Amino acid sequence: MSRIAIPAKMNSTMIRDLTSDQLPQVVMPACEVRPVLRGQTAIITGASSGIGKGIAIALCAAGANVVINYIGPDSDANAVVEGATHCGCATRGEAVAFKADVSDESQVHALFANTVDRFGTVDILVNNAGLQQDARIEDMTLAQWRRVIDVNLTGQFLCAREAVREFKRRGVRPQVSCAAGKIICLSSVHEVIPWAGHVNYAASKGGVMLMMKSIAQEVAPWRIRVNSICPGAIRTPINRTAWETPDAYNDLMKLIPYKRIGEPEDIARLAVWLSSDEADYITGASLFVDGGMTLYPGFETGG
Ligand code: BGC
Repeated sequence: MSRIAIPAKMNSTMIRDLTSDQLPQVVMPACEVRPVLRGQTAIITGASSGIGKGIAIALCAAGANVVINYIGPDSDANAVVEGATHCGCATRGEAVAFKADVSDESQVHALFANTVDRFGTVDILVNNAGLQQDARIEDMTLAQWRRVIDVNLTGQFLCAREAVREFKRRGVRPQVSCAAGKIICLSSVHEVIPWAGHVNYAASKGGVMLMMKSIAQEVAPWRIRVNSICPGAIRTPINRTAWETPDAYNDLMKLIPYKRIGEPEDIARLAVWLSSDEADYITGASLFVDGGMTLYPGFETGG
C-alpha cells in the first residue's frame, strides 16, 4: 500500500500530506508467553476460527486446559486443537474440542457437563461465539434478527449462567486463583458505535454491554469477575471484505487512528491477562481493543 487516502480538507501542519512512507513503520509486538493460567480450565465458545481460535491457543499456551467449542466443520476445530497442542510451550494445558450451539440450552448444559467430567471444573468462560447477518432495516427478516440475538446475546447469557453456577458450587481455590471464576464476553466497538445496516448485530452488542455489567454487579461478592473485550476491526475470515484489497484497507484506515488492522493475537493477549490474577481487581469493565476506532476519527481534522 503506497498511500493512505487523506481527505482534501485535512491540511493542518501536523498531518498535512501524510503518506504511509512518512508514518512510522508498523512493528508488531513480540510478547513473552507466561504460564499465568496454569491449573485452570477454560471454555472458549466459537473457537474454531478467527478471534476465538486465537484466544484458545493463547490460553492453552498460558497453561490452561481449553475446551474449544464450535458449530462448524469438525476439521476446523481439530486444527485448533492441533495448533494449541503444538504451540511450543512446555507449560501448556490440554486442548479438546466440543461441538455445541450456544443458543440451545440443552447443548450448553452438555458443553459444561462434559468439561466438568473431563477436567473437574471450569475456571474461565470466554463468551466469544457470534455472527453477523446484515441487511438494511427495511429488508431485515425476523429470522435474521432472531438468529443474531439468539447466538450473540442469548448464547452469552446461557453460557454465563452455567459458568456462574459452577463457580459458585466450587468456590475459590486460593492455590489456583484469587477468583472463583472469570467470564470474558466478546463484545464490539458496536456496543457504543451505532452501525447502519447491522441493527441486529449492534443491538446484540449493546445488550451484551449491560448484560455483562449487570451480571458483574450481581456476582462480584462471590469473587467472580465479569468483563468484556470490545474489538474494533480485526483480521478474521468473516470480515475479509473490509481489509483484503488495498482500497478496502485504505478505507478502513480512515476509521483507525493507529493505522493498522487488529490481529486475533491483539485480542488474545488481553484475554489471557484479564483471565489471570494480574487483573484481579477488574470487573464490570468494557475494554476496547480497537486502535482508536472509538476516538471519533472523523474529528482528526478538527471537525
Ligand atoms: C465486527 C467487524 C467490524 C468491526 C468494526 C466488529 O464488531 O465484527 O466485522 O469490522 O466491528 O466495525
